Amino acid sequence: MDAPAPQAIHLDAYRKPDYRIESLALAFDLEPEATRVKSRLQIAYDGSPSDLSEAALPPLWLDGDDLKLLSVCVDGTPLDETEYRQDATGLSLDVTSPGFLLEIETEINPKANTRLEGLYISSGTFCTQCEAEGFRRITFFPDRPDVMTVYEVTLRADKALYPVLLSNGNLVESGDLPDGRHWTRWEDPFPKPSYLFAVVAGDLACVEDSFTTASGREVALRIFVEHGNEGRCAYGMDSLKRSMRWDEERFGLEYDLDLFNIVAVSDFNMGAMENKSLNVFNSKCVLADPDTATDADYASIEGIVAHEYFHNWTGNRVTCRDWFQLSLKEGLTVFRDQEFSADMRSAAVKRIQDVRSLRARQFPEDGGPTAHPVRPASYIEINNFYTATVYDKGAEVIRMMQGLLGREGFRKGMDLYFERHDGQAVTCDDFAAAMSDATGVDLNQFKLWYSQAGTPGVTVTGEYDAAARSFELTLSQTIPDTPGQSGKRPMHIPLDFALLDPDGQPMPLKLACEEAAPTSRVLELRAARQTFRFENLDHEPAVSINRGFSAPVNLSIEHTPATRAVLMGRDGDSFNRWETGQQYATGLLLEAVEAGGEGRQTPEALIDALRETLLDEAQDPAFRALALTLPGEAFLADQMKTVDVDAIHIAREKMRGDIARALRDELLETYRGMQSNAPFEPTADAAGKRALKNLALGYLTASGKAEMWDLAVVQSRNSDNMTDRMAALALLTDRQGPERDDCLQAFYQRYRDEPLVVDKWLALEAMSVLPGTLERVKGLLKHEAFTLTNPNKVRALIGVFAAGNPLRFHQADGSGYQFLADRIVELDRINPQTAARLIAPLGRWSRFDGARQALMRQALETILSAENLSPDVYELTSKSLT
Ligand code: PHE
Ligand code: ZN
Repeated sequence: MDAPAPQAIHLDAYRKPDYRIESLALAFDLEPEATRVKSRLQIAYDGSPSDLSEAALPPLWLDGDDLKLLSVCVDGTPLDETEYRQDATGLSLDVTSPGFLLEIETEINPKANTRLEGLYISSGTFCTQCEAEGFRRITFFPDRPDVMTVYEVTLRADKALYPVLLSNGNLVESGDLPDGRHWTRWEDPFPKPSYLFAVVAGDLACVEDSFTTASGREVALRIFVEHGNEGRCAYGMDSLKRSMRWDEERFGLEYDLDLFNIVAVSDFNMGAMENKSLNVFNSKCVLADPDTATDADYASIEGIVAHEYFHNWTGNRVTCRDWFQLSLKEGLTVFRDQEFSADMRSAAVKRIQDVRSLRARQFPEDGGPTAHPVRPASYIEINNFYTATVYDKGAEVIRMMQGLLGREGFRKGMDLYFERHDGQAVTCDDFAAAMSDATGVDLNQFKLWYSQAGTPGVTVTGEYDAAARSFELTLSQTIPDTPGQSGKRPMHIPLDFALLDPDGQPMPLKLACEEAAPTSRVLELRAARQTFRFENLDHEPAVSINRGFSAPVNLSIEHTPATRAVLMGRDGDSFNRWETGQQYATGLLLEAVEAGGEGRQTPEALIDALRETLLDEAQDPAFRALALTLPGEAFLADQMKTVDVDAIHIAREKMRGDIARALRDELLETYRGMQSNAPFEPTADAAGKRALKNLALGYLTASGKAEMWDLAVVQSRNSDNMTDRMAALALLTDRQGPERDDCLQAFYQRYRDEPLVVDKWLALEAMSVLPGTLERVKGLLKHEAFTLTNPNKVRALIGVFAAGNPLRFHQADGSGYQFLADRIVELDRINPQTAARLIAPLGRWSRFDGARQALMRQALETILSAENLSPDVYELTSKSLT
């Protein structure tokens, strides 16, 4: 890199803007290669009047990126070139009056916009993506979230090519123009930051419905899709209506306009975007039918539709002061969508899934070279901070607040937050202040969760004194050092807690200093080390702690075989029932890995516990499926100082085989028992049965009986839904032989015209544990179905290979690393944001053996030495090397 290294910006350097924008009118003449954008901004100086007398007003800064400036006028008079200065990042204007009208005309080229930030074209449809800093690629503007204004937007375009013309707010006027063009005008009455602006123009089909809010407002709901996809909108629409109702019931939050639009596009950097009243979705996150979407897709659509809808209050009505506060809206909104899904489905299953994903994505981030606090203190490229830490750990922080305040207290805090800050751009501290002021709970120490990075480790030890009938529990915490942060302060950690008797019944928890003896408590760990002494206990208890995963920590606790059996089989907290089983299996697997792989025979105690769960009809099938799923290879790797991908794979496969052979009859019975002849329904119940059936199928194929593979082949061909088809194919993709290739070929031929299914097919190939996988992935780069310009395709093939196939990505010759580095460099020239999101697996180099470390670092160096690297890729690559 010869260009100077991009500079970081710092939270400490925040200054409020000098100027207010009182209103903004935008007019677009949409043309694929030369769109004209006229903007009229009414501007007012926002400093104190005393500064005004001090002669000169400060210059006005307007961000701009990749724009052709055509003209600038102030109060109707064109500026000459001495009155402004332009560089590659924007425009600085001299200001002579505290209030003035600024008119700017720019030209942009949406067709050439492969970054998918700003105005671009996806399958012939114009669409925008402005978060975080895309608006500056549309027009010159103070593109920061604390500059909020009301928008009036006029769109003009060819009527035949773009019959649908949409923007935020209400449609106020429309009409025809000469030359086959037409126009619409939109007004959004709510002041908003530029990142929530959106425009869509295209030839789209529309599915309509409506919703009546609690106070009687009739809201038109529309989902716009490419023609032919109308039949795939029903689940998204239903999810939207359920979200609207839920937010009224749980938080008293109603929708505030008469129209709510969702548009599905096929080229999108992320999942979806909460633009005011005009959400834009990655088609993968909203379109579904039984033939093309799996149960997991349905669940994810439900959650994402809710997430974007919930942003209308947590994000839009109250927004972020600056991008360091991103978790203010994202952590809170993830928490809200998690709570929604928990209410729509099984809360216990949802919690386990969320914790699994936190451990798979956030814990490694928190322990690696790009670790950062939930509220980062600096960044080079904000796009790099849409992370699992900001989103998912941010949601855990909100969940802990609810744990400390109670549900009612939390609701009071939310009410106060909206009462104080509706219409404002605020900070995480403002949120915590509302929570604390509404309830009197002191959150000062708790707020370290926003500023200290790293996953806390909590060690639990207990000692039972039979003579004194007492139990002494000692908790200690350590917060690991992370880049730029060491010597951290103890955190305020809420741990849900119970002591169980041998039947799994909660025992009374009487502390020495108190009379009350509730059967569960939240232990608040605030010091580095704390001891709690419980009295009047007749036998040695089993410790059930961090129930429901009340705090996002790494817990270390030893169980005796007897207490483990109680927790695994009878803990009323289903999260801990699952967790204890996972810990047990993890311990055994890591032992086997230490021994080089196979290890000893899987103990009867584990097999018996699994059998009991498998056959326990009192438990939800979805829960049983999770409890029988062994910890994943990536999770196991994360528990090791030096990762051995081969031994992990061998050990896990060996244990799967042991379980499969020991439980073959029960598994076959389950496989048959969970079959259903009813037509496919995407309900949680039906999905749970499919999950358990497919879990059973997975074990059966691992049992060493060749005929079990026939079940998978038949299922992949004959099932009437994508869930079952994919489950069977995912097994077949790991098995060498003609059936594999036939089944995958047949699948591709059947769905070659369905882009979202083709993504699944690419991901199946990328996930295969077979030795030739990298070569096949390389071959698929040239397949008609693949293109680097579509982020979904990139993630399906390259992303899944690098992040979801540890065995092949880490193959010893380093070819997986070099492959990834080359693709990142190639993609950086097309789409830096998506390129940067592929780097993380290489950043984990310090956890591997010396030979792999060298190869991984070499791959990172390859990236860093490429010319004209984007700030996105530069930031993550350079941080990964330190
Ligand atoms: N704000 C979006 C969400 O979480 C995510 C997003 C960020 C989308 C940046 C596009 C670009 O709902
Ligand atoms: Zn969000």
